[in-house]
Amino acid sequence: MSFNTIYVMLMWVRMAPPLPLIFFLLMIHGVSSDDWGVSYSPSHICALKDSTVIMRCTYTYPTGYKIEKVFWTETLKGDESLDLSEDPEYSQRLQYLGDKQQNCTVRLSHVTLKDSHMYYFRIITDKPDGKYTGKPGVTLTVTDLQVESPERVTEGDSVNLRCKSSCALTDRATFIWYRNSQPLTERRDRNNELLLQSVRREDSGRYSCAVDGHTHISPAVQLNVMYPPVKPVISISPSGVIVEGDSVTLNCISDSNPPAEISWIKGGTIVGSGRIYNISKISSNDSGEYKCKSINEHGEKYSDAVTLNVMCELMIVYTLFKNFKFIIV
Ligand SMILES: *[C@@H]1O[C@H](CO)[C@@H](O)[C@H](O)[C@H]1NC(C)=O
Ligand SMILES: *[C@@H]1O[C@H](CO)[C@@H](O)[C@H](O)[C@H]1NC(C)=O
Ligand SMILES: *[C@@H]1O[C@H](CO)[C@@H](O)[C@H](O)[C@H]1NC(C)=O
Repeated sequence: MSFNTIYVMLMWVRMAPPLPLIFFLLMIHGVSSDDWGVSYSPSHICALKDSTVIMRCTYTYPTGYKIEKVFWTETLKGDESLDLSEDPEYSQRLQYLGDKQQNCTVRLSHVTLKDSHMYYFRIITDKPDGKYTGKPGVTLTVTDLQVESPERVTEGDSVNLRCKSSCALTDRATFIWYRNSQPLTERRDRNNELLLQSVRREDSGRYSCAVDGHTHISPAVQLNVMYPPVKPVISISPSGVIVEGDSVTLNCISDSNPPAEISWIKGGTIVGSGRIYNISKISSNDSGEYKCKSINEHGEKYSDAVTLNVMCELMIVYTLFKNFKFIIV
């Protein structure tokens, strides 16, 4: 117990002075450079992975002592405390910016999630009892970034993506968003959120986020925008005249998310399902109007009808003959 503290206590017991005077004396005691002290400002730091952190620190020690060594450590083992600048995990990344007087500021670069813990400043003087560690130390929390997003959304929904960190970054942090690795410029976010007011199918993609001026970038997260089928279109192969016995394939092409179920309709009845409708060995009774229907949980659409006109060999001969006549005339 220092002289100042005893003095304050004596004052209290003997004279019971007004409170403000006690506080005044206590304050004098607090800033006295006759005492050991380390103060960290701020005492909690939230830092982004890969960034550079400056731990600001000042210290005092009693007059009459001579500083022999000052260093930063992550252990509270007294004489066995390890100097971080001699720790291979830190030595390349740690730079002492302070002095041997009062400033113990240190810089740590390329921080990793493993760096998250408390750091202490230790003072060693020439006297055997002249050793001191500033406790509690400064707490460093290193965070990465994670995109928080709904997995499935439907076109027209209002969608909010959040760029999450495990501790609160400074208010000055400006968030940047990427879709498929391209920076998004057209929309403005608020704080760490990206607002897609009426989400469109083109907004589907892999989203990631970062903080302006920092290299760390979050893992990408898939945003999947659902929408009803687009009106389907039928393609026929082979194209051209279809003759009895041919193999004919009808293909129903329709964009949708999730993929639609396709069914085939001929003259009001369902004749098949699946994107491809094969008719092997087509016969004249396969002639007629075909449509396909595309349906998913967000809606359904019908194609326009296509007409299959299956000719028998005789008809072909007849048609050729007609054309031949026409050419002659
Ligand atoms: C301590 O040193 C750092 C780095 O040189 C400097 O930025 C800071 O202002 C100093 N602090 C005090 C209290 O002198
Ligand atoms: C349809 O026919 C084509 C060509 O003959 C064939 O490659 C394809 O596998 C068939 N598809 C189905 C679904 O039967
Ligand atoms: C279509 O014709 C084939 C023979 O070419 C016959 O086997 C089949 O039953 C006919 N189908 C209908 C619906 O008339």
